[in-house]
Amino acid sequence: RTAFWPVDSRHPDPAVINRAGLILRRGGLVAFPTETVYGLGANALDGPAVAGIFRAKGRPRDNPLIVHVAAQDAVYQLAAAVPDSARRLMQAFWPGPLTLVLPAGPGLPPEVTAGLDSVGLRMPAHPVALALISAAGVPVAAPSANLSGRPSPTTAGHVWQDLRGRIDAVLDGGPAGVGVESTVLDMTGPVPVVLRPGGVTPAELTAVAGEIALDPGVIDTGAAAAGGGRRPPRSPGMKYRHYAPRAPLILVEGAPERVPPRIRELAEHYRAAGKRVGILACAESADLFSSGQVLVAGRRAEPATVAARLFASLRRFDELGVDVILAEGVEPQGVGLAVMNRLRRAAGDRIERV
Ligand code: TXA
Ligand code: MG
Repeated sequence: RTAFWPVDSRHPDPAVINRAGLILRRGGLVAFPTETVYGLGANALDGPAVAGIFRAKGRPRDNPLIVHVAAQDAVYQLAAAVPDSARRLMQAFWPGPLTLVLPAGPGLPPEVTAGLDSVGLRMPAHPVALALISAAGVPVAAPSANLSGRPSPTTAGHVWQDLRGRIDAVLDGGPAGVGVESTVLDMTGPVPVVLRPGGVTPAELTAVAGEIALDPGVIDTGAAAAGGGRRPPRSPGMKYRHYAPRAPLILVEGAPERVPPRIRELAEHYRAAGKRVGILACAESADLFSSGQVLVAGRRAEPATVAARLFASLRRFDELGVDVILAEGVEPQGVGLAVMNRLRRAAGDRIERV
C-alpha cells in the first residue's frame, strides 16, 4: 500500500516528484528526505490531511508541526508578522536547519499549530524536499517521519520500519546529512529563544541576531519532560519522552577521562547480571571497551559526526537486541548541544554525571 520511490538526491526525477506532489495536494501523506532527518509531509492548508499525520505517527494532538516552504516569500503568507531579525536569520540560514516560530497568519488549520497563535516555519536545504514542496504547490506540514517516541529517521529504511502501510509514499533520497533535527527558535518575544537545539548553533544565531536565550528545557531536559515543575514548556514537543530506542539508555557524562572507565564498570555490572550490553562510544575511546556491542557514532572532537549517526546508532541497538545501552556524553557545545539534548531525552532520568 505504501509506495517506495528511490530518487537521485541532487537531481530527482521530475516525474516521480510530480506524482508525490500530487499526492500531497490531494490530501495524502508522503515521507521525504531533508538535510536534517526524514519528514512526513501533508498539505499544511488541509486540516484533515494534517490530522492524518497525527494518526500515522501516533503523535499527541497538542504538539504543533513545522510548516516547510520552498522559498522565503512564502513566509509572508503564513506568518502574521516577520520581524527584521527573522528576515536576517532567513537570509543567513535558509535553506537550512533552522525553524523560526512566528505569529501565525490566518488560514492555517488548527491541526498544524495545535491551536497555538504561532507557527514554526522552515525552508529545508535538500533538493528533493524543495522540489517536492514546489511540485505540491502548497506549504508542507512535516514532523520527523518516525512513530511518535522513536528516534527520528535518517534513512528511508527507518521510515519504512516505522510507517510502512500507514502512509501513501516514501521518497528515498539516501541518508540525511545533519542527522539531528532543525534548531527551533521562538521569535515571538523580545529576545529570540532556542526551544530545541539543532543544526544551527547558538553561536551562529548570535552572530546574526544578537542576544538570544536558551529555553531551560534545552539543557535540563528533566524539567521540560516533567511538564509541570516551574512552568509549562514553551515548545509543546519538549514535554514528551523522545528519541528513545527500545532498550533503556544510560547516559554517562562528565570529564572525557572519567566517562569511559565508568562505562566499563557499568558494562561489567550488567554483563554479570546476564544482560546484553550496547555501548555508544566516541571514536576517541572506542578501543577502551572490550565487552559488549560497541557502536561508534562519531568523534567527540567533532560533534557534527556524532550527530550524523546518532539516531541510526540507536535504531541499530534495537536490531542487535541489546538489553541496555550505555552512551558516552559529549561536550554540550556547538552541535554537541543538540546531541546532548537528544541523548538526555532518550535517557529520561537515567543520567550519571562523573
Ligand atoms: O529538522 C526538522 O525540524 C524536522 C524536518 C522534517 O524538517 N522536523 C521535525 O519536526 O523535527 P518535529 O515535529 O519532529 O519537531 C517539531 C518541533 C516540536 O518540538 C514542536 O513542539 C516544535 O517544533 N514546534 C512546532 N511549532 C511550534 C510552535 N508554533 N511553537 C513552539 N514550538 C513549536
Ligand atoms: Mg520529531
